[in-house]
Amino acid sequence: MKKPCLKTPIPGPLASQWISRDSKILSPSLPREYALVAFKGKGQWIEDIDGNEFLDFTSGIAVCSTGHCHPDVVASAQAQLASLIHMCGSDFYHLPMIQLAEKLAEITPGQFEKRVLLANSGAEAVEAGFKLARWHSGRDKAIAFLGAFHGRTMGALSLTASKAVQRKGFSSFVPGIHHVPYANCYRCAFRLTHPSCNFECIRFIEEHIFRTILPPEEVAVIVIEPIQGEGGYIVPPEHYHARLKAMAEKHGILYMVDEIQSGMGRTGKLFAMEHFGVDPDLITLAKGIASGMPLSALVTRSEVMDWTRGAHGSTYGGNPVSCAAALTSIDVIQAGLVENARILGDRLRSGLLAMQQNLECIGDIRGLGLMQAVELVVDRELKTPYKALRDKLLQGCFQKGLLLLSCGESVIRFCPPLIIGTDDIDTALDIFESVLRDVL
Ligand SMILES: Cc1ncc(COP(=O)(O)O)c(C=O)c1O
Repeated sequence: MKKPCLKTPIPGPLASQWISRDSKILSPSLPREYALVAFKGKGQWIEDIDGNEFLDFTSGIAVCSTGHCHPDVVASAQAQLASLIHMCGSDFYHLPMIQLAEKLAEITPGQFEKRVLLANSGAEAVEAGFKLARWHSGRDKAIAFLGAFHGRTMGALSLTASKAVQRKGFSSFVPGIHHVPYANCYRCAFRLTHPSCNFECIRFIEEHIFRTILPPEEVAVIVIEPIQGEGGYIVPPEHYHARLKAMAEKHGILYMVDEIQSGMGRTGKLFAMEHFGVDPDLITLAKGIASGMPLSALVTRSEVMDWTRGAHGSTYGGNPVSCAAALTSIDVIQAGLVENARILGDRLRSGLLAMQQNLECIGDIRGLGLMQAVELVVDRELKTPYKALRDKLLQGCFQKGLLLLSCGESVIRFCPPLIIGTDDIDTALDIFESVLRDVL
């Protein structure tokens, strides 16, 4: 059974040198979590520049779904590199783009005709969906959610409401976007409890927002994550999306679901929306779609994607090498990784729940499949976020060879590659618990 292997103090001498070079030249805006200088990746393992081996429970933020450098993905990307690297899919045609679009239309939720736009990053797919919703509906307003993260470009950032630091200094934002509370039942904005709340967070939109500041007939789209990712891995109650979508339909509002973090098998279903039984009008995909090659997609009902020639495009969107990597990633994911995410997600969750019994600082455990999180609190009664503990815990796990990431205010997320095994889950749980007990 392989375990993390640390040969130098962390960070090691070479890592420290490279970080010093990085800090003089790279943008200081990058929110680096800790001093990992990644050098090689294989499966669930990352080797740093000093030869230390870490167990990766981040997947490069839920991206390397098939593990680092999956041999099949590498082979298909290499073959594509050797035959055609680029030929701008906006101006010309190429096969990998058409094949991937057909595949995405087939596997995404909804048994209806679809159309697909390929882009490069999550934010770009969100921008495209937001623009398209305005185009198609002829309406210019949108509803998004407190806690949401949709990306950093101006339109996507305008929809984002995750951390103030992400917006500070960048106004004015795209006008007409109204943020409302998400179904965050651990910290309900209305201080109610599910199910007796009867979805007050949805009623609030209809009875307050629509009646006072936002006429529903002006709203183009509701933009929502099936499970809030950066906001803290917040899983809404079972019928939330169905109720919200029904409300949207009543007013002719499009339902755009951002599966950029939750999609591609991570939650134990190919798409998180399948847990909620709702077919969105627009879906954005990125991250896990191509195992780390830059690629994103917007998939919509075909009648929604009715914009005309020249209305939207991109130089690199649907790059042949990224498309080839995506097609193989999808094959690998469909050949057992969705099931693995479900089974090992349950194992991870059970381990965390057992830990919670004896550790008062674990306020909440939530997630689906291999999208799991632990919220740390000063005390369970008041639920005061315990950010200092979270930060120490992240550093401590790194020092012991386990890579984790933060999200929300005092949350640690577990989003390992979907190929991990039971031993890896047990190793991660052991390290996490022993570090937590040490730093408490
Ligand atoms: C749900 C969601 N949407 C959009 C994005 C933005 O993706 P990108 O960083 O590729 O622009 C992210 C990134 O974390 C995300 O989690």
